Amino acid sequence: MLKREIRKNVMMMGAVDWDRRLFDSLIPLPDGTSYNAYLVTGKDKTVLLDTVDPAMTGVLMDQLQEIDKIDYLVSHHAEQDHSGSIPAVLEKHPQCRVVCTPKCRDMLMDHLGVDSDRFITVEDGDTMDLGGGYQLKFIHTPWVHWPETMCTYLEKERILFSCDFFGSHLATTDMYVTDPGRVYEAAKRYYAEIMMPFRKVITRNLDKVEALDIDIIAPSHGPMYGDPQFIIDAYREWVDPMPKNQVVIPYVSMHGSTEMMVKHLISALAQRGISVSLFELSSTDIGKLAIALVDAGTLILGAPTVHVGVHPLAHYGAYLANILRPKIRFASVVGSYGWNSNAVEQVAGLIPWLKVEILDPVICKGRPEEEDFQALDRLADQVLDAHKKSGIIREMQKV
Ligand code: FEO
Repeated sequence: MLKREIRKNVMMMGAVDWDRRLFDSLIPLPDGTSYNAYLVTGKDKTVLLDTVDPAMTGVLMDQLQEIDKIDYLVSHHAEQDHSGSIPAVLEKHPQCRVVCTPKCRDMLMDHLGVDSDRFITVEDGDTMDLGGGYQLKFIHTPWVHWPETMCTYLEKERILFSCDFFGSHLATTDMYVTDPGRVYEAAKRYYAEIMMPFRKVITRNLDKVEALDIDIIAPSHGPMYGDPQFIIDAYREWVDPMPKNQVVIPYVSMHGSTEMMVKHLISALAQRGISVSLFELSSTDIGKLAIALVDAGTLILGAPTVHVGVHPLAHYGAYLANILRPKIRFASVVGSYGWNSNAVEQVAGLIPWLKVEILDPVICKGRPEEEDFQALDRLADQVLDAHKKSGIIREMQKV
């Protein structure tokens, strides 16, 4: 990919990673990703904002080949997909200084071995004059999604460079959003997988961003937003503390009994006007599970028992939900066992970070019988009551 002009003296650079299918050895990338970098050339100073993943360093260095001098390299975030090419840029441009938050400096020294004398640290609200009316303002936006993160605002062109904040894992040749539905889903997936645990501080960061007059949000993954309100409104919706009238059921079934229970429960919930999303844990895309957890009011784990304990895949599902910290208010477990089970106690112990009320679990021995289906109906009633009493179902909403 060649570098492209956003505005006079402001270039979009970086690499499109069409073929990458996994991030952090965990997160599926069904649509690949991109690592966007940006170049701002003032009258006096030239600044590179972020770099690319180490595997793509050659692409960035080719784009920078005709740039004689880079004075500053702004590092918004120390994670290697944006910082990984910093050593190569610093080697090629010995006068260049890395501009970042104090925390980011420490992390870049730890992760990349950058020398301490290569840094200029900036506090929240600090500015840097590049000459010719180009001035950068640094906005500390911690925990999107590491503690050191910040954004940069180019006031002259009203562009916010936001790095991971507002990003989407999407490999595309489009500079700007052209398919809002596709980008909405990719950005929601991205939010769910890495931002959701920090939604309270993200809410404060949104306030900071909305105080700026922005024409373009330029993230470091996915296309830029020519309509910034589109993604700001989406984030506002996702961080809203009130969940929706939705239940997420991740499940696994060994011989069909837990599946029978789950399928019965889905119908019972649907009959009560509650939306359900189902994810079979041996085959599901965990990104889609994460997306569903963004809005759900209740999590119900379908967990059979293996050797008296919870099935390893259900264990994984519960642990994943715990670390993603969705805003769910209620949780429960349903499942079948052969001769004995500690599944409920185990699952409860796996979700300490979820501030949830536990609804009555339904655990049956072997194949579910009539009384088990009745217990599942009662669980559906409990979910409905809980959603009503907590305000998830509003007075005016039909149920
Ligand atoms: Fe895109 Fe947190 O790195």
